[in-house]
Amino acid sequence: MKIPAAVLFGVKEDYRIEEIELDPPNPHEVTVKLAASGLCHSDDHSVTGDVPCPFPIIGGHEGAGVVTEVGSQVTALKEGDHVLLHPVPNCGECRWCVSGRANLCDNGAFALTGYAPDGTYRRRLNGENIGAYVQLGTFATHTTVSETQVVKIPEDIPLQTAALIGCGVTTGFGAATKVADVKPGDVVVVVGVGGVGTSAVQGARIAGASTVVAVEPLQFRREFALTMGATHTAASVDEATDLVREATRGVMADVVIVTVGVLHGDLLAPVMGLTSKGGKAVITSVAPIAETTAAVSLFDLAMSNKRIYGHVFGEANPAEDFRRLIELYRTGLLKLDEMITTRYSLDQINEGYRAMHSGANIRGLITYD
Ligand SMILES: NC(=O)c1ccc[n+]([C@@H]2O[C@H](COP(=O)([O-])OP(=O)(O)OC[C@H]3O[C@@H](n4cnc5c(N)ncnc54)[C@H](O)[C@@H]3O)[C@@H](O)[C@H]2O)c1
Ligand SMILES: [Zn+2]
Ligand SMILES: [Zn+2]
Repeated sequence: MKIPAAVLFGVKEDYRIEEIELDPPNPHEVTVKLAASGLCHSDDHSVTGDVPCPFPIIGGHEGAGVVTEVGSQVTALKEGDHVLLHPVPNCGECRWCVSGRANLCDNGAFALTGYAPDGTYRRRLNGENIGAYVQLGTFATHTTVSETQVVKIPEDIPLQTAALIGCGVTTGFGAATKVADVKPGDVVVVVGVGGVGTSAVQGARIAGASTVVAVEPLQFRREFALTMGATHTAASVDEATDLVREATRGVMADVVIVTVGVLHGDLLAPVMGLTSKGGKAVITSVAPIAETTAAVSLFDLAMSNKRIYGHVFGEANPAEDFRRLIELYRTGLLKLDEMITTRYSLDQINEGYRAMHSGANIRGLITYD
């Protein structure tokens, strides 16, 4: 099938819309007609070169749509099913999947190769194989993906809204509720409130945090965070440190969640300063792959019993966590429609990413007819 797709040809280039040849599904794959794809910051690390990937590549990994064709061995999905895609596979067989830690599935090792775990490609550009970001390539009208990256969802949930759950919402919400395990009455700080940070703020609110401080240099995003459950805002970590010190009489925050756009090592020391004795610092943000140093007081880390947690995809088990998030959306507790600030057509993708960088959006969404 010939489809339009947004293709990245090199570092610091714009996406270009190209006609791609998409294959039908292999026995354990499905083809999905996409309804929408969110503009997550993660794709952008390959645009800046912070996280290298093979070029050319079709971007996009936060998508939802309708199954149009199923492979001969697929039993859990059928044509017409509404589905959410997820960037981390759930093979159901590796030690991580069988122990309920699908976010660490061994097949995640192929995320940035562009090809399927068996080394084959499903897409071609001008007759040459072309990869898809985390095998999903949702910046296209259709995708052919492994059944291990697809979850069926109820049909009453608007597909365009559901797309956000495919990455940013699950990641931020899981950072608060699963990784940090926020408890009622906790003091939580979220550093950087774009799509992922806004979801962490919502997770903290729903988990019962008494204080949620949104730290963000951009005023629009600070104000938006107040509508999502933040009780206070600060324009910088330094400002938040004074605010939290006063609010907690020097105890500091039980949980600090880092969801800035690009993580650099120099942020870690002030983040640990914001964290209370016995508190947790949760690192969600992606750092440039070549950056390997961070200054942290090792004395304070041990003697104040502080903990630093990294995580991928909010420690999600996609099928179960998507079900919970959809229930929270149905009850009105989880706000998703409000997070979609602008909808774009595929050929407006570069405009959408510029709006992510300028902070004009919370989440920009590419929608398909
Ligand atoms: N761990 C995972 O599995 C996972 C999954 C999805 C996204 N991510 C990462 O999460 C991060 C956030 O993604 P997003 O889509 O929300 O990005 P975004 O660009 O929409 O939001 C990031 C926000 O951080 C703010 N910011 C930057 N520096 C700051 C600082 N020093 N202090 C306070 N705020 C600061 C920016 O102004 C911006 O509003 C990215 O690094 C992304 O790659 C990780
Ligand atoms: Zn697995
Ligand atoms: Zn993402």
